[in-house]
Amino acid sequence: MCGIVGYIGKKTAQDVLLTSLKRLEYRGYDSAGIATLDDDNQPQLARAVGKISELEQVVQQAPHAGHLGIGHTRWATHGGVTTVNAHPHHVGDIWLVHNGIIENYKDLKAELSDVDFASDTDTEVLAALINREYTAGVKLQDALAKALKRVRGTYGVAVFSPREPEHIVVARLGSPLVIGVGQGETIIASDASALLGYTREAIYLNDGELAVCSRDNVDVFNLNLQHLNAHAETIQGDLAQIQKGGYDHFLLKEIMEQANTLQNTLSGRIDPQAGTMRLGGTNLSPQELKTLRHIVIVGCGTAYYAGLLASYYMEQLIPDITVEVVIASEYRYRSFHLPAHSVALIVSQSGETADTLACLREIKKRGTKTLGIVNVVGSTIAREVDGGTYVHAGPEISVASTKAFTAQVVAMLMFAGMVAESHGGNKALISELTQELAMLPAEIDNTLKTHQQTIEQLAKKYAKFDDALYLGRDTAYPVALEGALKLKEVSYLHAEGYASGELKHGPIALVDETFFEVFDILDNWLFEKSIGGLHEVRARGGKTIVFTNATDKDIEADDIVRLNTPIKHLAPLLLNNLQQLFAYYVAVQRGNDVDQPRNLAKSVTVE
Ligand code: AGP
Repeated sequence: MCGIVGYIGKKTAQDVLLTSLKRLEYRGYDSAGIATLDDDNQPQLARAVGKISELEQVVQQAPHAGHLGIGHTRWATHGGVTTVNAHPHHVGDIWLVHNGIIENYKDLKAELSDVDFASDTDTEVLAALINREYTAGVKLQDALAKALKRVRGTYGVAVFSPREPEHIVVARLGSPLVIGVGQGETIIASDASALLGYTREAIYLNDGELAVCSRDNVDVFNLNLQHLNAHAETIQGDLAQIQKGGYDHFLLKEIMEQANTLQNTLSGRIDPQAGTMRLGGTNLSPQELKTLRHIVIVGCGTAYYAGLLASYYMEQLIPDITVEVVIASEYRYRSFHLPAHSVALIVSQSGETADTLACLREIKKRGTKTLGIVNVVGSTIAREVDGGTYVHAGPEISVASTKAFTAQVVAMLMFAGMVAESHGGNKALISELTQELAMLPAEIDNTLKTHQQTIEQLAKKYAKFDDALYLGRDTAYPVALEGALKLKEVSYLHAEGYASGELKHGPIALVDETFFEVFDILDNWLFEKSIGGLHEVRARGGKTIVFTNATDKDIEADDIVRLNTPIKHLAPLLLNNLQQLFAYYVAVQRGNDVDQPRNLAKSVTVE
């Protein structure tokens, strides 16, 4: 979603701002802008609709010379995608970029009836509110704190004023802000990846905090302007991780690197010889583990589907436990009750998803322990949960989530294995799954490399269709849902996922020669039933693709991709890898912006 950057130091601000904004491109945006202060304290503004490259052209025509500035990538919420609505906004001496939503902006705007607003944004209203407080003699941080106390909603803001050229003031509530502490320079961003290459030391601002950032100093306060102790932490990761590394797109890179990233997820957590798995960081005592009776898994989109797949394994592994998987945007508003001895797994790649974060807070209010299954280190969810684990998939830049899905499922599986052990669960199954986890990275690598070309050819054949159904049973069902989501996200094809058993209850009405159907078929006790669905579709003229791990069984379909792998229980993850490649190549065929699909944002920080 929207991205914020800011810079004060010795370098030319426009260069740092544009480089950092490019690092945030993956979050999804529709316009961008920067505002800088030159050495004579004259503000300069550049904004453009479209990609950062459009903004660069505007800047090239009128370069900015100053050493202080703020920048923004906007994902429109209030007001259309226009240059005037793009950030930064300014009212009087207040220059501002903002992530989040000012919910009471209409009321505030009514109060500010003397202001001639140029845009339709809630952000400009906030700028006007700060400006009203910024009267003679008042410091910028006082005006900002006072204004923010009037605001209902969420914000990450960076503000400067030509009257105070020695600093930028930032604040956050529900929208991330990281302050990079460099040598004689301070870099601000809504995402630590934008700081890489400048500094590794960063202060993660907490909700309700405000910071005054100068070249050599960062002072953190609460909104009552009481000074707080803030500590810089070391940012993990490096520049190479956020570059394409020879691939045409981040999406392909992230699909293909899953074998390596999964090694990081597994590292030190499985013991194939002993047949055991262990996930550190959960902060659950042996007693809490033993008495656990209920697990609720919370997520959105791909994270939700990862939870759904993990729940099947949990039920198989842990005999005396109930597992429910919920969509965060629904659950947060339900009158839910969690029984004693529950734990909530909060699943999020970015760790910033607004709905998931809201659920986490609701669950905590009810006194249930929350554990994060999070990828981005230092993210808000990771900081607010009671315990949990990082999935260590590395930076996921492409908007469509791929390697995080695999890592999330595996992390939750290891959690389940650990709980199962303390519940006297099926030892043989725990051991089999541990062996499969140990083999999984190599099998992922093998699957992707063996089938890459075939899938590319398949994509060429099916890219001309406009509709698809994905069908699967049991553990292949969440995979079907995820396959359909991936295809629609990046190819813009209409795709729906269903449990195969549901086919006759409605979706079969859609089957004709204009649709194609993807069947995820596992070689297990439900094989014959899955094949039944396939026949029903073929009998009605549907074009069918089968992804399966059945190597020696007769299957009739238009196209079949057979995995040849010793992996059984975890084969759904390999089927999913095939689907990821398929979605990627269909998107390429259709000439889409693969890494930044239209209308989508990587990190959905608004409701
Ligand atoms: C995945 O491809 C999607 N872009 C989206 O569904 C995503 O998984 C969802 O928004 C949740 O994000 P999170 O994992 O960062 O919380």
